[in-house]
Amino acid sequence: DAALNIQPNPEQLAQAAADFISAQVRVKPELNILVATGHTPMATYAELARRAEAGEVDFSRATAVQLDEYLGIDDDDPRSLWGWMRRSFVEPLRLTRTVRLESPAQFGTALARLGGLDLAVLGLGPNGHLGFNEPPSLPDAPTRTLALTPASLESNRAYWGELAVPEGAITAGMDVILAARQTLLLVGGTHKRAVLHAALKGPETPEVPASFLRRTALTVIADEAAWA
Ligand code: GLP
Repeated sequence: DAALNIQPNPEQLAQAAADFISAQVRVKPELNILVATGHTPMATYAELARRAEAGEVDFSRATAVQLDEYLGIDDDDPRSLWGWMRRSFVEPLRLTRTVRLESPAQFGTALARLGGLDLAVLGLGPNGHLGFNEPPSLPDAPTRTLALTPASLESNRAYWGELAVPEGAITAGMDVILAARQTLLLVGGTHKRAVLHAALKGPETPEVPASFLRRTALTVIADEAAWA
């Protein structure tokens, strides 16, 4: 069963998530962490950066692994998810070890060398996607390139203002995410309420890829708006 942690507001969600992640890296300083971008985890990462700055937690031996990326985007493009991950997580938390997601083969080799993922920090797509594992995605869906669905093109528009959302993407596979020793799903806002309930209480279905997270050692930290 998923451990469900409901917080009154986004600030306390970020504190609880930072507590969870900090505890993991204290137990295992060489933690291998799959790192989502998107809006939801940003306050959590900022709180972790504050704690790292204050010397309360040390990520210097941890490895950050990229979850997803658009296709056809340069590193210096403002839409680069690698750039977003670097600016929000890798640099402020002072990590020195990273694995980029460049191709399925390169990614698989790098993960094998790491000995797998200890923790996957995930957001919840409004259509139930994880990373860019768009519906339908089976639990064994591999790391791959794909065309984004209209729903994800629409939800990702919020990130880039006037810039177009790239139409192609690469994502860590469902197989990679579901093999993580722990998974942490962060969910905030009323707009996620229906999909959160589908993911946790509906049938396990490829139509809601996040529903397969119930097969993992899952912790969900959500705010009241998303849960109530
Ligand atoms: C995006 C990303 C995911 C992210 C999810 C939720 O499309 N590909 O990695 O976790 O959707 O994003 P947000 O936290 O902004 O709601």
